[in-house]
Amino acid sequence: MQVVVNREPKLSKIDHLFVLLAEGETGAANEYEGVVDAIKRAKFSGRSDESITILADGPRKITLLGLGKRDALTIRGVRASLYAIAKTAKKQRDASIAVVFPYIIGKRDAAETARIVADHLSQSDYKYDPYITVKKDQKQSKISAILIPPPGFDNKTAKTIDSEARAIAEGVQIVRDMGNSPGNVMTPTKIGERAQEVASELGIKCTVYGRREIERMKMGGLLAVNRGSAEEPRFIVLEYSPKRAKQHVALVGKGITFDSGGISIKPAEKMEEMKFDMCGAAAVVGTVYAAAKLGLPVKLTGIIASTDNLPSGSAYKPGDIITMMSGKTVEIVNTDAEGRMILGDALHYASQLKPDHILDYATLTGACVVALGSEAAGLFTPHDELAQKLIEAGESVGERLWRLPEWDDYKELIRSEWADMKNSGGRWGGATSAALFLKEFVDCPSWAHLDIAGTAYAEHENAREAKGATGAGVRVTIAFLESLLR
Ligand code: BES
Ligand code: MN
Ligand code: ZN
Repeated sequence: MQVVVNREPKLSKIDHLFVLLAEGETGAANEYEGVVDAIKRAKFSGRSDESITILADGPRKITLLGLGKRDALTIRGVRASLYAIAKTAKKQRDASIAVVFPYIIGKRDAAETARIVADHLSQSDYKYDPYITVKKDQKQSKISAILIPPPGFDNKTAKTIDSEARAIAEGVQIVRDMGNSPGNVMTPTKIGERAQEVASELGIKCTVYGRREIERMKMGGLLAVNRGSAEEPRFIVLEYSPKRAKQHVALVGKGITFDSGGISIKPAEKMEEMKFDMCGAAAVVGTVYAAAKLGLPVKLTGIIASTDNLPSGSAYKPGDIITMMSGKTVEIVNTDAEGRMILGDALHYASQLKPDHILDYATLTGACVVALGSEAAGLFTPHDELAQKLIEAGESVGERLWRLPEWDDYKELIRSEWADMKNSGGRWGGATSAALFLKEFVDCPSWAHLDIAGTAYAEHENAREAKGATGAGVRVTIAFLESLLR
């Protein structure tokens, strides 16, 4: 959905005006034609489950949507309302809509609220459908939306908010499109091509390494996982280096384009979801895109290791001992613990660049999903200050992170008799032992691992979004980078 932020739009040409109102504060949008009357006639009170549509003369239709208590407003709640708006507008074939959102969310100011709402509104009608050949809604043109935000900034600021929200929403969309693409299309080669396309659009540098170069760099982890595959591996480096850069942040992503488990093969049920195992890689591409479009004065290096994980006669197998790029050795006990193998090399590569911070994004463990479900990503870092900053950044954009331990006390889980470590610590504490494995390859004063296995994709449609890739990682990281600049 194309969104512009405008405090004083002409509503007479709008198909459908949506007004979001909080309980007991339904007077907040009285200035708009027809709204007072609609509230009165519908006895509308703003409860969170309330909605009413009336036919009108200015805009053709007015829909009032209840937000519940204003003090209890959250971004997640607002997102549900925006998603409901998009569904209604699609169903009713509205070509142009306006959305009145007259409140500030939490402790943000009007401009921050407007940016978040505009960003989520643009993504609210997202649907991945390039492979639907018989489209039910063929005639439907794109919806264009005007967001009427809470008062508190001028028109010039509105323009800035417009383009910032667009940068972030487009970054999120890149992640969703890449994530939703099927594994036979979004191969490691294709991930490299997408990264290159994005880089050339941004005018930034992108290097894509193939098998030969990966061999020359001795990335034993990536090569081991790739041994079962008919696809070539890729190692991708995106570089956004603005002149006024204050800090250097490396973003590392897991790019498993399909995870069958390999020789330690997964059960068939839901195996199709493992096409999403490259969502960490996609998050890196989307975040670099958004940051560059925003022109953030932070140097970013996006680092992606990519392969699929399949069984074959040449596949790596339990009992194998692999020498990683760093020189450390790993005894394979489960080929399904492949993400950490490719990330071990990617994190070592990132460490050699000596960035100020390293953040990695990975759909790494089922154990993290068992612990947190889909409402929060797991955050693992030994650095309290970084943890604090990331959690706050997540809170500010409605993308929750929850810290889990990476204490060395758990290291026994991955101790090996035959090599420096094992690649799996078993079921108990599985998300933590995975993080501890990664830690072995990090040499950086400030590193955090984000396990996005539960947040990267929605198994089913929910109140806030369509089924499939969510774009997890982009918004929280942009908010974090912005916090570094304050
Ligand atoms: N990609 C999976 C993790 C995953 C599971 C992501 C469910 C999203 C939903 C990862 O490669 C994996 O298979 N992890 C294993 C590790 C185990 C073998 C130590 C897991 O979580 O079971
Ligand atoms: Mn796996
Ligand atoms: Zn995996």
